[in-house]
Amino acid sequence: MTVIACRGVTRRYAGHGIDPVTAVNAVDLEIDEGSFVAVEGPSGSGKTTLLGLLAGLEAPDDGEITVLGHDLARLSAAERARLRQRRIGIVFQSFGLIASLRAGENVALPLALAGVSASEREVRARTVLEEVGLRSAFGARIDELSGGERQRVGVARALVIEPAVILADEPTGSLDEENASGVLELLVEAVRQRGASLVLVTHDPASAARADHVYRMHDGHLTAGVPA
Ligand SMILES: Nc1ncnc2c1ncn2[C@@H]1O[C@H](COP(=O)(O)OP(=O)(O)O)[C@@H](O)[C@H]1O
Ligand SMILES: [Mg+2]
Repeated sequence: MTVIACRGVTRRYAGHGIDPVTAVNAVDLEIDEGSFVAVEGPSGSGKTTLLGLLAGLEAPDDGEITVLGHDLARLSAAERARLRQRRIGIVFQSFGLIASLRAGENVALPLALAGVSASEREVRARTVLEEVGLRSAFGARIDELSGGERQRVGVARALVIEPAVILADEPTGSLDEENASGVLELLVEAVRQRGASLVLVTHDPASAARADHVYRMHDGHLTAGVPA
């Protein structure tokens, strides 16, 4: 089954100069159920914009995006948000945690948005925190956690809804080498165990090498494979 399909997807920004910036240019992409896709490419090549489009956070100027059988353009903003909240996990380079909430509350937040009861939220958040190696971190403050631990919380938050697909935007880009490989290992393993799909934006060739399919972005264009 195809989890996400893009056809001719283009996103332009007005830009600061005379010409608009075509951040994503005529991209075709299919992500199968359970597959791990890596996207490499230099800064400014359109990787984050592409993930935002796949998540339905922004709309393409051209082309079609189908997520789990839904044509995103045919959904209302509320329906797109629902689809994202229930089926898509997102992991950010800078973690995206809410500092005023405890680690466990951060993890449970997507469940709160999905209407899960408080008692079930706590059970599920604790279970997934244990899975990422943070068994006793439920009540921890975010500023008490190391970078590696924060991103484990970020991964737990993405996993807690049992998503069909995880979109990870340079998730290890802010971590030292040891923490980076630990977090990546954990993410890949968790996704594989669930039979979910993973789209990983990364600068790290070793991470990309583990993927089922590797793509490269350059000036908004997506091409298969990495040039030698
Ligand atoms: N919200 C925005 N408004 C205007 N231009 C943007 C915006 N987001 C991204 N861009 C531009 O689109 C291009 C691609 O950006 P981005 O998707 O962030 O690339 P990457 O993630 O590969 O670094 C860049 O030229 C960037 O300046
Ligand atoms: Mg980016």
